[in-house]
Amino acid sequence: MEFTVSERMKSLKGSAIREMFKAMADPTMISLAGGNPAAELFPSEELSQIAADILKENPVGALQYGISEGNIALREKILEMMKEREKINASLDEITIVSGGQQAIEIVSKILLNEGDSVIVEAPSFVGGLNAFRSYGANLVGVEVESDGINIEKLKKTIENTPNVKLIYTIPNFQNPSGVTMSVEKRKALYEIARDNDIFIIEDNPYGELTFDGVKLPTIKSMDEAGVVLYSGSFSKILAPGLRLGYLIAPKNFTEKVVLGKQVSDVHTALLPQLLALEFMKRYDIGELIEKMRALYKKKCDVLIGAMKEYLPENITYTVPGGGLFVWCNAPGIDTLKLSNECIKEKVLIVPGNNFATDQSLVNNGFRLNFSTMPDDKLVEGVKRLGKVLEKYC
Ligand SMILES: Cc1ncc(COP(=O)(O)O)c(C=O)c1O
Repeated sequence: MEFTVSERMKSLKGSAIREMFKAMADPTMISLAGGNPAAELFPSEELSQIAADILKENPVGALQYGISEGNIALREKILEMMKEREKINASLDEITIVSGGQQAIEIVSKILLNEGDSVIVEAPSFVGGLNAFRSYGANLVGVEVESDGINIEKLKKTIENTPNVKLIYTIPNFQNPSGVTMSVEKRKALYEIARDNDIFIIEDNPYGELTFDGVKLPTIKSMDEAGVVLYSGSFSKILAPGLRLGYLIAPKNFTEKVVLGKQVSDVHTALLPQLLALEFMKRYDIGELIEKMRALYKKKCDVLIGAMKEYLPENITYTVPGGGLFVWCNAPGIDTLKLSNECIKEKVLIVPGNNFATDQSLVNNGFRLNFSTMPDDKLVEGVKRLGKVLEKYC
């Protein structure tokens, strides 16, 4: 049957990254494109034992309907973790379990955005966040990310010149896609600007724990006395993304709306993953698992950067991240959408920068590389292939 797509869906395009998964069916293809965590670190045996125990000992707790706010013991455990690891002090009525950080962004959009309202986003930014805002008819306004985070002067000007700014969306740690971490000074400035202008901040922090050297900068939420920061956390990059488990920490009056929004989206997050994460954290030290991830990703990032130094033309500049999963490259004068298509012919996948832009139709010189999933030799070979394609352009 023919059908007309709603206005709010018209601005959404299929994710190029998901499209690239199709190209991965070719076994000779090397992907520097995805953003998946390293599957070898999934604690599958531990989770398998825990799942069996839960379904035997507490089947109703896992299989019956639950409350929309999320499992109380899990929320308490996360709050404990937040206090200890992120210096965030929040109470039980300020946290909601969500089905991944993606859902946190979607529910916040549902609560705050009317058609045509503006959302200030980092340029470039996470495509899932951008699409959530787009799906609620938001006007996206990008403010450039510098090597120490969003450009604060431009942010101020943008707020002055843009009507109905409802939200500022930031990924302060090892940003997807740029790999950049926002300085403490900029975190403070961003918080004060949002507070003084009555604008909510979504602080999206799925990568903060993946710091290579263990250094963690204060979360913006930890500075929040005015209740303007909506903090989105996720188990996707510190446990397993297939669990679809995240949490949103927000002021109590906002959380009441989150719970209503959540009921419309999916009633509640599936209970088995909630219990799996809770029990995993009771039986094991999740900090130890995080340490393993930090070490693995640091090693892989070093391999990628080493290969980039050796095989990429000199005019290609890139960020050297202190954590996370991504390196952002700048190829002056090159349309990276065309470049990525050339790369597919050479059997290497990269993500062209237009995917992360507010206007995806504009020519973009940036592209994103990922280092978390490929074995070391393939990381090197992938960069060699990319270098070969770039040589043709440069
Ligand atoms: C910046 C950022 N936010 C949120 C998400 C969504 O994560 P999830 O829904 O798996 O928690 C991702 C996933 O890649 C991301 O990169």
